[in-house]
Amino acid sequence: MSTTHPHTPIGPAAPDAPPRPPAALKADDLTTRPLATSQTIPSAWYTDPEFHAFDRRYVLERSWQYVGPASRTAEPFSYISDFVAGNPVVVVRDRGGTLRAFYNVCKHRGGPLVTAPCGTARMLQCQYHGWTYRLDGMLRGVPRFDRTELFDKRDYGLTEIAVATWEGLVFVCLRPDETPPLAEIMDGIRERIEASETGHPAAARSACDLASFQFAARDTYDVNANWKVYVDNYLEGYHLPLVHPELCDLLDFGTYNTETFDWYSLQHSPIRADSDACGPANEQAYYYFVFPNLMLNILPGRLQVNRVDQVRPNACSVVFDYYYGELPTAADRAAADRTFSDRVQAEDIDICEHVQRGLESNAYDRGRFSYDLEGGVHHFQTRLKRAYHRATSVRPE
Ligand code: FES
Ligand SMILES: [Fe+2]
Repeated sequence: MSTTHPHTPIGPAAPDAPPRPPAALKADDLTTRPLATSQTIPSAWYTDPEFHAFDRRYVLERSWQYVGPASRTAEPFSYISDFVAGNPVVVVRDRGGTLRAFYNVCKHRGGPLVTAPCGTARMLQCQYHGWTYRLDGMLRGVPRFDRTELFDKRDYGLTEIAVATWEGLVFVCLRPDETPPLAEIMDGIRERIEASETGHPAAARSACDLASFQFAARDTYDVNANWKVYVDNYLEGYHLPLVHPELCDLLDFGTYNTETFDWYSLQHSPIRADSDACGPANEQAYYYFVFPNLMLNILPGRLQVNRVDQVRPNACSVVFDYYYGELPTAADRAAADRTFSDRVQAEDIDICEHVQRGLESNAYDRGRFSYDLEGGVHHFQTRLKRAYHRATSVRPE
């Protein structure tokens, strides 16, 4: 049993020290090269448990993480909650109409303030012992604490985090001081989508007005592979003929193209005239990847948002949120899209899980890129190297 020294400060503990760079992270591996001459990142980055904590702290926490639809937090007292970068978060609109975000973690003993994915609340009440917090995060009600000494409620307010919206989607950032603004990250995406519809009738243009789309459904897929394996796989069309022969028939593989920008890359391909399973024929399909773990899959009248979450060093999960324009057929389209995604996901999950085992084997360390079809993977891995470089060059913290 220990006693508290009278001069020991009482109050919330300081956060844990940041993880040290993984022993397997070599300075040479952080060198970036052009696509034509670059190697892929080392296998240890996908398999070594030290990279799991490092990715979370220096890549995922230093980014804007998608939470859910802004429409669910439109009214005062409405909230949404989720887990991002391994942390429970709640986003709530306060009485005055300001959107606020907090860790969904009570300062008593870590209980949850809300357990539902969405709802309304005039106060945030911990679901464990009932502490209550105002929607500005101040601790208000503390039942049965009269005899606890040296306790000041002002020391136990909720930890607030940054929140922002983009095109009807809510994002939070756990380390905004270390992360560019969301608008800077997304710069150019909306303009590109709108430009693609210039010259079309107004009805077609509104089909790409993402902010007007309505949330329809969420699915989550579990994958026994490192989160970066899933991202790599998303970022190239090289695997389509062998892994997704049916999907390959729907897209015009001959005109498949990847463009890279500062924080994101774009794969696009016209949907073939003779297909109708994944979107209107002859329209563009846009597959945006926003570093480090966000995907925006855009067809006219439909937005599918994916967020790839770390689970363990060799496991991740992937959220699929579906949004639609106000079409009379939105429900039918959602059902068809989810069935189609189930099939494509099963194929991607199977190949990613095989790749994870290959990366863990004795036989593999680094490979090379297809110049024509793996530019998106190279872009992601280059950004990752820059994030690692930044993390290692600012030591010690
Ligand atoms: S953990 Fe929240 S009231 Fe106890
Ligand atoms: Fe795939």
